Amino acid sequence: MTVRLTRNYRFVASHRLHLDHLSEEDNQKLFGKCNNPYGHGHNYVVSITVKGPIDQRTGLAISLADLDALVQHEVIDRYDHRYLNFDVPEFAAKPSTTENMAFAIRDHLLANWHQKLGPSAPLLIDVKVQETKRNSVTLALIN
Ligand code: NI
Repeated sequence: MTVRLTRNYRFVASHRLHLDHLSEEDNQKLFGKCNNPYGHGHNYVVSITVKGPIDQRTGLAISLADLDALVQHEVIDRYDHRYLNFDVPEFAAKPSTTENMAFAIRDHLLANWHQKLGPSAPLLIDVKVQETKRNSVTLALIN
């Protein structure tokens, strides 16, 4: 009785993708509109997927209230309504690409995973970050 469960979360944030060691032209070529000088916003959707057995007493694989509290504390509170370049330490020195955001979110979640979700918490198996309707990145932790 093992299931995969996915829960979606939303936040808004602004950023600028820019690498100081590249020329303006190369930055524009590499990052396109995300390199525009004064930043821009995205409506991000983060999908967290876990895998684990169903607790036969509750019929649940995870307490969504506990997962929500963890994601709120570790992700939403850090990123929502922030300018990622200046407000979020992990993106001061590296670009807040969707790829880098997926890894950062994984790290924040795993840092307190068992402390907040308990010793028998299900496994975190996917972190998906959707930046626009056209692109998303899925970090698969377990295949
Ligand atoms: Ni962008």
